Formats: sequence, structure tokens, C-alpha cells
Amino acid sequence: MIQLQQLPPLSLYVHIPWCVRKCPYCDFNSHEARGEAPQQAYVQALIRDLEQALPQIWGRRIQTIFFGGGTPSLLEPALLDQLLAQFRALLPLALNAEVTLEANPGTVEASRFAEFKASGINRLSLGIQSFNDDSLQRIGRIHDAAQAKKAAEIALDTFDQVNLDLMYALPQQTLQAALADIRQAIALKPQHLSAYHLTLEPNTAFHHNPPPLPDDDTSATMQEAIEDMLAEAGYGHYETSAFALPGKQCRHNLNYWQFGDYLGIGAGAHSKLSFPDRILRQARFKHPATYMQSTETNTHIESERKLTRNDLGFEFMMNALRLTNGFPVALFQECTGLPISTLDKALRQAEAKGLLLRDHLTIAPTQMGQRFLNELLQMFLEPD
Ligand SMILES: C[S@@+](CC[C@H](N)C(=O)[O-])C[C@H]1O[C@@H](n2cnc3c(N)ncnc32)[C@H](O)[C@@H]1O
Ligand code: SF4
Repeated sequence: MIQLQQLPPLSLYVHIPWCVRKCPYCDFNSHEARGEAPQQAYVQALIRDLEQALPQIWGRRIQTIFFGGGTPSLLEPALLDQLLAQFRALLPLALNAEVTLEANPGTVEASRFAEFKASGINRLSLGIQSFNDDSLQRIGRIHDAAQAKKAAEIALDTFDQVNLDLMYALPQQTLQAALADIRQAIALKPQHLSAYHLTLEPNTAFHHNPPPLPDDDTSATMQEAIEDMLAEAGYGHYETSAFALPGKQCRHNLNYWQFGDYLGIGAGAHSKLSFPDRILRQARFKHPATYMQSTETNTHIESERKLTRNDLGFEFMMNALRLTNGFPVALFQECTGLPISTLDKALRQAEAKGLLLRDHLTIAPTQMGQRFLNELLQMFLEPD
């Protein structure tokens, strides 16, 4: 049994499960929209889902909303408007709530972006991946480099807060090509950049049929050079893959990494919800049709589990140690209800191996800890 003195900040995640085409590296819960996706019915299901979840978040204010996917920019603007209007009617939203929408450059039109903004979207996250036509083709994207650049320009003209997603260590990519992508991204002056090392996820076309990838040494060199280039351009490296201009960090993702709460609605969405005496994780049914149907009978939650003391230590660290500057020691007890001494043995072990630094106020991964994050996290798997 744990006891929380106060509940952490609460975010809302909304999953939109369709894409124009499935990318061969992607293991997100996204499905090719063959023909017309049943958008109207899905929006109704999302609203039912939220209504049924309300008792679990009663009275709590939503700090951030994130429409993720899939490709949320495929949503008809009128439907997104309807959704946001319902959210406002059902939930207390913080005055300055951050409201992000993910978009694919192949689905961008200036007029759509203007409509999204008018509905209340104030941050846009664009899946650029690369500005190189060959790279884009090799990773099966639906857009080319010119469309990627144009989409970023429209996004930056429309929104005050824009993130560009880039991936590196792409098939046959050279160090020069990876750095040219970052240089082009910086030239566009987005407020936020995410640079992900391409990973071969199980159950993807790339996993079954691996393309020729840069070797480990080359991709490590890419990572270092990318970090240096972004630092020089004024982007602070605040999480494993996230970089931002001062004050422009993504508040929604920060809430995940600081072990805040989130209600996830939509197909396959995950939630983490705290109550004074317990913390729950939930997952909704993954398949859009199953999900939509089961919202009619309030049976759309496929699994729910209460986190144990051991889960809490590990799961907190799995998130918070992604943050380059670590976390305030007091945050651990605030979010888990457990004293930091629960982790003493693992903390001492990690410190002795040079993977972690701590003083009375802060716990942070060292540079080596950031590089070998999995080894560092292993130590928190079975605390005493
Ligand atoms: C849900 S997608 C966001 C937007 C939109 N669906 C798109 O792709 O344009 C989230 C991001 O995760 C990254 N990503 C997806 N699969 C990845 C993988 N296997 N390895 C590394 N990054 C990946 C991509 O940069 C992608 O933009
Ligand atoms: S568009 Fe984005 S979510 Fe859809 S398959 Fe590609 S990477 Fe995955």
C-alpha cells in the first residue's frame, strides 16, 4: 500500500490509428486507411471513452493534450474541432494548456493547418524523418524532400511551437547525409527537434527484411556529431532524443518522463492514473474496430494493473533517467509515495559504476549513463 500526498499533473493522450501507408520500420498502432477510415464513428467512440473515464480523473485539470498516431493530421478539421469542443465541455483544461497534433508531411495543406489552429491546436509535430530523397524512399515514406521542407515552412508560418521528427542511422546513410539533414532542420528554425536512432522493431517489415544499415561505430559517431551540431545551434539536449530552444521543451512528453499521470483514449492507448492509495496502468483494445465497438458497452479497457512497489521504482527510473539533467530527489516520493531509500542499493551501485550522479537535491545520469541507459536501468529492476 502506498500513500500519495498529492496527485501529479495530468495529461490527455488521444490516439488516431490510421496512416496513408504503413512505413516499414514502424511498430506504432497504425493501420493503412484502405478506403475511407470511419472517422466520424471513431470520434464518437473517443467521446464515449472519455465520458466513461471521467470518474477516474474527477476534478483534475488537464495540463496538456497530445493527438498522436498514426497520422492525426488525416482527421477532418471539422471532426477535430468537434472533439476539442467536447473535451472543453467535459474537462477542466489549464488556461495555458499545450495542445499538440502529429502530422505527416504527405498530408499537409496550409488551409488544414489554419483550421487545426483555429480549433485550438497550438503545437505541431511533423514527421520529417529526412530531407534526402534517397533516404525517404529507402524508408518507404509517402513524401519527398521538397514536400518535407514545404510542410515544415507551412507549420512554422502557422504555429508558434513546431517540432520536427528526424531519424538517423537510416539505410545506406552516410555521416555527411545525416548531418545534412540536421543542418537543413536547423536552417528552418523550429522550436523543437527530435532525433531518433532508427531501430529495427519486431513485427515490422524492416525486421523481417533488414535493409543495409550503418555499423554501430558510424551511428555512434552520427549521434555525437548531431548532438554537437544542435548544441552549437542553441538547442538544449534535455532527453535521450529531444532537443529544444530555451523554454520550448515539450510539456506533454516532459510529464511522461517526470512520471506524471496521463489518460490515454483511443485504440491501444495506455494510461497511468494515480489515486491517493494506488497507481494504475491501463491499456485499451488495440484494433480500431474492436475498440470502437467495445466503447459502446464500456468494455474497451483490455487490461488494468496496479503497480507494485518494485514496478514503481523501475518505472519511475525508466522515465526520469531519460532526462539529461535528471530529476529532483523529492519528485520520487511525490510521484510514487515511496521513500528514495527504497532505491538505495541500486543508486549506490550505479554511482560506483559511474553511470549516475547524485547529491541531496538531484539525481542524474552521467554521460556514460545516458549512453548505456539500458545497463543503468537494469540495476533498478529488482531493488531491495
Ligand atoms: C507516430 S510517428 C509521428 C508522425 C507521423 N506518423 C509520421 O510518421 O509522419 C512518431 C515518430 O517516431 C519515430 N519513429 C517511428 N518508428 C521509429 C523507429 N523504428 N525507429 C526510430 N524512430 C521511429 C519517427 O520519427 C516518427 O515521426
Ligand atoms: S506515418 Fe508515422 S505512424 Fe504511420 S506508419 Fe509511418 S511512422 Fe508509423
